Amino acid sequence: MLEISNLAKQFGTMQALDSVSIQVPPGQFVAVVGCSGAGKSTLLRLINRLVEPTSGAISFDGQNVSLLKGHQLREWRSRAAMIFQGYNLSPRLDVLTNVLVGASTSIPQARRLLRLYTKAERLRAAAVLDDLGLVEKAFERAERLSGGQQQRVAIARALMQKPKLILADEPIASLDPLNARVVMETLRRINVELGITVLCNLHSIETARMYASRAIGLRQGRLVFDGPISALTDEATSEIYGGTPAEAESDALSEAA
Ligand SMILES: Nc1ncnc2c1ncn2[C@@H]1O[C@H](COP(=O)(O)OP(=O)(O)O)[C@@H](O)[C@H]1O
Ligand SMILES: [Mg+2]
Repeated sequence: MLEISNLAKQFGTMQALDSVSIQVPPGQFVAVVGCSGAGKSTLLRLINRLVEPTSGAISFDGQNVSLLKGHQLREWRSRAAMIFQGYNLSPRLDVLTNVLVGASTSIPQARRLLRLYTKAERLRAAAVLDDLGLVEKAFERAERLSGGQQQRVAIARALMQKPKLILADEPIASLDPLNARVVMETLRRINVELGITVLCNLHSIETARMYASRAIGLRQGRLVFDGPISALTDEATSEIYGGTPAEAESDALSEAA
């Protein structure tokens, strides 16, 4: 269980997140929705500890995430794996090596630097790639793959970390509709089949409706919606985005484009 209480983050005078409290039981697929600047990325970064909170607390399975340091912090970062809009792969390295980077927190630094992976590690990376339908790309340079394939490589790398939580920050914002669908289906599969909790920032309410069981709506750093996806009515949507529901949808779509 992920428990976030009264979490706040201020950048200078900008209140990026304002006293947000949520609890996420294991195995949920949560869409985090809201306009650009609403605080979605800040929320995920706070959970992963890429950003330190101004106040409030984060705990996971009873462990206070906010206090972790050193090795324990590195371990938490791999348990709460991030997926970014821009994939963050090493473009010139092959796909298998990119995936092996995900195993790195458990590998001694010297071996990591020299990229010396054991047979067992390489086999696991290949198995993860196989599971995501990418094993035939294992020895291709990452940059030669389509955007959707690269994002799936990033998901494979995240799976190498044996995550409890996937924090996906607009994972499909750079993809065409077909690739976006394949990536969202992949996230759904790892959620359903592996039971990994997914928190996914999305611009499009439509996508949230298709894949998430629960939505969290942020507006100017404040939590303005938290409920089952079925409760995300037009009225709720306009509360999150402002304006009329129709405007909100088209705003969300144009921001995603
Ligand atoms: N590192 C930062 N320094 C200063 N301001 C930031 C920083 N990160 C985010 N912000 C500000 O915090 C607010 C929320 O940003 P963000 O979490 O990126 O929103 P979203 O992901 O919903 O678009 C925005 O006003 C943004 O400009
Ligand atoms: Mg963002």
